[in-house]
Amino acid sequence: SAAKKDGYDWYMRKEIFEQPRAVADALLGRWSAEGQLQLDELRLSEGELREIDKIVVIGCGTANYSGLVAKYAIEHWTRIPCEVELAHEFRYRDPILTRNTLVVAISQSGETADTLMAIRYAKLQKAKVLAICNTNGSTIPRESDAVIYTHAGPEIAVASTKGFLTQLIACYLLGLYLAQVRGTKFGDEITAVVRELELVPAKVQQQLDRCEEIYALAREHADTRSVLFLGRHAGFPVALEGALKLKELAYIHAEGFAAGELKHGPIALIEEGLPVFCVMPPKGRDQLHDKMASAVQEVRARGARTIALVEEGDDAASYADTVIPLPKVPTLLQPLVAVVPLQLFACELATVMGHDVDQPRNLAKSVTVE
Ligand code: G6P
Repeated sequence: SAAKKDGYDWYMRKEIFEQPRAVADALLGRWSAEGQLQLDELRLSEGELREIDKIVVIGCGTANYSGLVAKYAIEHWTRIPCEVELAHEFRYRDPILTRNTLVVAISQSGETADTLMAIRYAKLQKAKVLAICNTNGSTIPRESDAVIYTHAGPEIAVASTKGFLTQLIACYLLGLYLAQVRGTKFGDEITAVVRELELVPAKVQQQLDRCEEIYALAREHADTRSVLFLGRHAGFPVALEGALKLKELAYIHAEGFAAGELKHGPIALIEEGLPVFCVMPPKGRDQLHDKMASAVQEVRARGARTIALVEEGDDAASYADTVIPLPKVPTLLQPLVAVVPLQLFACELATVMGHDVDQPRNLAKSVTVE
């Protein structure tokens, strides 16, 4: 009913707008008065965490994409090699697991059969299993050695939104906590990153306050049959998630690519008028921003309609047809703000197309069969 949806037309829209609160709750109580990260529910000792020599992140759908972001952050902060794998592929390829492998299973529902089977396999191989989960007492955290709950509150819409953002928060916290416990050279950065995380709810709110611009853009695309998404670095999983949202909700062809891969194939797809969302890396020391800007110019020269998500103040009008400004955040945290306009776009596009946003065809919120 409308009452349960707080006056929103869809649970999904309501959940998108709950994200500032959800992110704040995911961060609540993680920082001690002494200026240390604390993950109280974790259930793994510092000794066990110091022995970890490999991390494998598993999940399905949106949870897999939060894992892809996690890899960038966790490897950077901890220097522990980190792989990301689809849960349903994992146990069928004879993966190398030892007691010092940490398997991180990400699942909003905690009931996804593919992910559950993967952690059972990992436990048989004696790996340590940590669940990142939104549902207290669900099967995956119960069967894991450790857990970080995401505290997003119930997610009803099939397409994950606040579940995704809070999974990202949990992954960042895990990476920072491992860095703290193991005393890596990035230890000094921990406080600074936590301070940045605390600013994220307000920055997500800023994105939501501009929703009308995104809705107008969605309405312009009501006849679109195909949309591409480009990103680099932590923006690459954002591109994948933006595309997944359109497949799930609008039932149109949508693909996410790493921008550097364009020239190796996908650029052949570009044709007149094709919408291409470009998640631009913030300007930094590594030239990634400028390299991606020239890729965007190339697709524009071939007739694509380029829609760039860029840090405020970036003069993207020189290479993009439409500019969506993003608040300033460190590169590794950019997915938290960059995904929000893409969620709004998919929700609105599916609405104008007349689809059931909360219950897309053929999908289930939680897939409990393999
Ligand atoms: C289903 C849903 C997706 C979700 C995936 C993983 O396929 O339709 O939206 O991302 O399951 O769900 P989980 O609960 O494990 O995060």
